[in-house]
Amino acid sequence: MADFPKVLSNRYALPQSWTLKTVEAHGAYSAARQAFTTMKPEQIAAEVKDANIRGRGGAGFPAGVKWSFLPKDSKVAPYLVINADEGEPGTFKDRTIMELDPHRLIEGCLIAMRAIGANVCYIYVRGELVTSIKRLEAAIEEARSRGYIGKQPFGVNHELKIYVHMGAGAYICGEETSLLNSLEGMRGEPRLKPPFPAVKGAFGAPTIVNNVETIASVPDIIRMGGKAWSDQSRLPRDGGTRLYGVSGHVKTPGVYEAPVGLTLRELIYDLGGGMLYAARPLKAVIPGGSSTPVLRPGDLVHAPDEKHPLHPWHGKSHIDVPMGVDTFRALGTMLGTCCAIVMDDSVNMVDVARNLMHFYSHESCGQCTPCREGTGWLHDVLRNLCEGRGSENDAAMLVEIANNMMGNTICAFADGTAMPMLGLLQKFREEFIEAGKRGAPKHTLGATVRGIGFTGGAA
Ligand SMILES: Cc1cc2nc3c(=O)[nH]c(=O)nc-3n(C[C@H](O)[C@H](O)[C@H](O)COP(=O)(O)O)c2cc1C
Repeated sequence: MADFPKVLSNRYALPQSWTLKTVEAHGAYSAARQAFTTMKPEQIAAEVKDANIRGRGGAGFPAGVKWSFLPKDSKVAPYLVINADEGEPGTFKDRTIMELDPHRLIEGCLIAMRAIGANVCYIYVRGELVTSIKRLEAAIEEARSRGYIGKQPFGVNHELKIYVHMGAGAYICGEETSLLNSLEGMRGEPRLKPPFPAVKGAFGAPTIVNNVETIASVPDIIRMGGKAWSDQSRLPRDGGTRLYGVSGHVKTPGVYEAPVGLTLRELIYDLGGGMLYAARPLKAVIPGGSSTPVLRPGDLVHAPDEKHPLHPWHGKSHIDVPMGVDTFRALGTMLGTCCAIVMDDSVNMVDVARNLMHFYSHESCGQCTPCREGTGWLHDVLRNLCEGRGSENDAAMLVEIANNMMGNTICAFADGTAMPMLGLLQKFREEFIEAGKRGAPKHTLGATVRGIGFTGGAA
């Protein structure tokens, strides 16, 4: 197995790695001390910009640029909000940080709060992640008793408070504005943008919402310097190392740290140990959580024009394109949360679609009609197809419903439903037509995604 240097996950395998005693002997809080005592807030922000870190929550927005959107003339201090909702199906990377090295996230919060001038940080954690919550709360208490959180962290007058807020397990509360509503005690429904949270977020104040992994990367960015941290990546404008998840039909599912720009082939056949059954070849892979369109290994990159962003990979399989925010967008999919779901040729794609659309129809908050109705209709049509009650026209109907959802709602939930649906229809249309003729065999994705272990590769 490829042995990539571990940065973010380098303390995962230490005994009691979630305690201050263990991690402080391995460098924890040295970057925060450096940031507070030797750097100006704008220098910290400049290092994060140089690091080219693309948000790890799914949209891939550059964190340094997001921080620069905070209004300079605000009369109230901004909030830092950490998105630890981790609800995207197939995604299980953030909880490894919270369970195995919560102090790295807390140190990142302290540095980010210093950089943006925040006094208060909320960590919004999915309620089911009980171990994450317990370890975060214990770690916050340890950091507080050491004075790292409080009135004068590292001897500097900059009061810091961090609170853990438990969510109740609604997928939509991972969407940043629903998260803010939920944090404020309201229904978890998305807000209209603009104003964006950086201008008007939590409790009406400017707010930076970042994913757990994004902020947990900040201590290493300060320790190494933004450029050096960025240069670990194989790709331009998409820096660093990141956590890759792999689940489904692979021998060693888990979470692995590697440079940005790893290929799906490396993730599946090297880190993931290869396909689970030798006789069952790779059929399809959902690259970055269930909202990202599916890829097939047999599809080759078509980019003969030298100006095309994928030109260096012209003629290669889609699974040989480096996994990056921009490369995967150019491929017609998304990197998303960088947690791949691997499926062998035993899986029926109509049933995959039914399984996914069941999830989305259940989780739609119902605020926007195209999403509330569209997700339900998609699920109904797919259920009929799977139960032998469909027709050959259903594929066209699914395309129409999905297209009517795209871009017509307040938040990206509907797009995140329609895109994987359209991707499955585009790549496996014949299976949907076939199912319309005689019903799809029962074989659920849920049944195939086995053993999502999350310490794999960390030792
Ligand atoms: C339906 C939906 C669910 C989301 N769930 C999460 C989530 O669980 N965790 C997360 O970090 N971002 C999630 N996001 C993305 C957030 O809205 C936001 O982009 C992210 O927290 C920003 O952090 P980043 O820039 O560090 O990636 C979700 C977005 C949508 C539309």
